[in-house]
Amino acid sequence: MKIVFATGNAGKMKEIRMILADLNAEVLSMKEAGIDIDVVEDGVTFEENAIIKAKAVHACIPDAIVLADDSGLEVDYLDKQPGVYSARYMGEDTPYEIKNAAIIRKLVHAKEEERTARFVSVIAAALPDGRVLTTEGTIEGTIAHQAAGEGGFGYDPIFYVPEFRATTAELTAEQKNAVSHRGKALRAMKRKLAVYFEELEG
Ligand code: IMP
Repeated sequence: MKIVFATGNAGKMKEIRMILADLNAEVLSMKEAGIDIDVVEDGVTFEENAIIKAKAVHACIPDAIVLADDSGLEVDYLDKQPGVYSARYMGEDTPYEIKNAAIIRKLVHAKEEERTARFVSVIAAALPDGRVLTTEGTIEGTIAHQAAGEGGFGYDPIFYVPEFRATTAELTAEQKNAVSHRGKALRAMKRKLAVYFEELEG
């Protein structure tokens, strides 16, 4: 069974490959599957956007399982912004050093307990039989006072996880995958796919 992951984000793809490595399936990026489409993510929730992406790519490769993740950072002090607009926040091509510095500045008057934030990931799976499965994962943290760490991608340098006393950019890939929103959502999806594979064989 082929599993195509509907993302062009190299950072995400690296995490996903690690987490799905033990599935008995060939995991391909869209590029590796020869699919080059731009999907308009016009949903207003992570779930809507994940389903939109999974279905759009599935239409190009109906025999495969197509997985898509929609994820983002919710900052409570900013009314849960950037949320579903995380990739597009301040412009898609704006470097994350600038986006991250802007978020830190916006929280300059926030009290410690007002700095709470979370990463959210919803994974959608479009199956060859037309069904769509979804799972969700979150990780709670706070917005750091300054960016730290070189790992991960996107908002990782400013997402502080009290449990590790570090930002997610300071964790190893293994540590991040073990606790991250995407890791949790993907492991939940792996469990759902295992049931689906059993149904196919049964
Ligand atoms: P999507 O590709 O439309 O789902 O956008 C996800 C965006 O949310 C990314 O481009 C990042 O800005 C942010 N994001 C999601 N997951 C993470 C993560 O694990 N670390 C840092 N930023 C993330």
